Amino acid sequence: MIGEFHRMNGMKVLSIAIVAGARPNFMKIAPIVRALRERAGAAREAGVDLRVSIVHTGQHYDENMSEVFFRELEIPEPDRHLEAGSGSHAEQTARIMMAFEKYLLQEKPDWVVVVGDVNSTIACALPAKKLGVKVAHVEAGLRSFDMSMPEEINRKLTDAISDLLFVTEESGVRNLRSEGVAPEKVFVVGNVMIDTLLRNVARIEGPNFAPSPSVKAFRENGHRYALLTLHRPSNVDRRETLAPIWGVLSEIAQRVPILFPVHPRTRAKIDEFGLRENGIVLVDPIGSLDMLYAMKGAVLVLTDSGGLQEETTALGIPCITIRENTERPVTVEKGTNYLAGTDPAAILAASEAILSGRGKKGTVPPLWDGCAAGRIADILLRQENPEPGRS
Ligand code: UD1
Repeated sequence: MIGEFHRMNGMKVLSIAIVAGARPNFMKIAPIVRALRERAGAAREAGVDLRVSIVHTGQHYDENMSEVFFRELEIPEPDRHLEAGSGSHAEQTARIMMAFEKYLLQEKPDWVVVVGDVNSTIACALPAKKLGVKVAHVEAGLRSFDMSMPEEINRKLTDAISDLLFVTEESGVRNLRSEGVAPEKVFVVGNVMIDTLLRNVARIEGPNFAPSPSVKAFRENGHRYALLTLHRPSNVDRRETLAPIWGVLSEIAQRVPILFPVHPRTRAKIDEFGLRENGIVLVDPIGSLDMLYAMKGAVLVLTDSGGLQEETTALGIPCITIRENTERPVTVEKGTNYLAGTDPAAILAASEAILSGRGKKGTVPPLWDGCAAGRIADILLRQENPEPGRS
């Protein structure tokens, strides 16, 4: 039966399924997969046959939204592809749930590890929990307190049913406590995004990295520039919201050119609303190494992404977040992040401060040190084998 520990050849089998579905997930699972696989030998000596599988839900499927990340982040091929694809939230979530339930019944993992806050996160946590499979949530406890964001709903529901909650910053502990989550399930481990970031910094500085031509030309033409990402439905889906944001970005682009790798959702809306480019240079979505290369050369990052808020804080690069709230308050309190909202005047004022050298300097939050995945792996293994050697 699922959820019951099984044995083979006198060894305990511990099988962990790690789920990834959308672009930001890939950055998070890479170090966890690596950390767990690195511990397989020690686990074996302790009598545990550790089996780690990767399940790709297929929420993101384009080459430049998915495959390039697996290649660059050196994530092994997924063991199972659920091929869920796009659709409405209900369609996408339901397709993933149905396919993942089948996977669970066939493979009977002991643990399911889900990361982040995308539809794939809750869509895999829910059937796992109902089948009695233990669920670990990486990046638990973050809250924007904005229930109009699909991600906030995904976060709260996933945290409510998880058995282990791995937290990136102290605000997460407070949020989980106030929602009544038992403290013994909650672990502050740091940030797996930063594990990937630090590893990638070393790689883009190494001899084998060649940036893609569009990013290289932009970074190496000798001018200061800003980097932009924008894809939240609340910012891009309606003309009344996107047009004024676009207007202020065009104004900033008169001072510094803006490189904009465009998410497919946003590309479609820019075309639909007939917005002109005005110093904003649109390129297709770029991989994680190109993104880091572009980020490191930028004088300013403008974004509505969660991951970029964290990465800029870790690198000390000024960031303006084009959202009314953030679930990552440490990036504003300690880091380099300005929460400007969507008011053009506030976005402009923050960019003026940064471009004239008055931007805040920021510090790196505790445990954002490149070792978060190792902590997660150790805690997971300890759950099943509290006294290695005596099992
Ligand atoms: C999802 C996540 C969001 C995350 C973002 C990062 C949810 C609720 N949202 O939003 O938290 O920040 O990913 O990218 O899970 N599309 C393609 N090719 C792809 C993937 C999507 O063309 O490979 C198109 C889809 O057809 C759809 C749109 O992009 O029209 C949105 O994709 P979807 O996965 O539904 O949500 P995101 O907006 O990407």
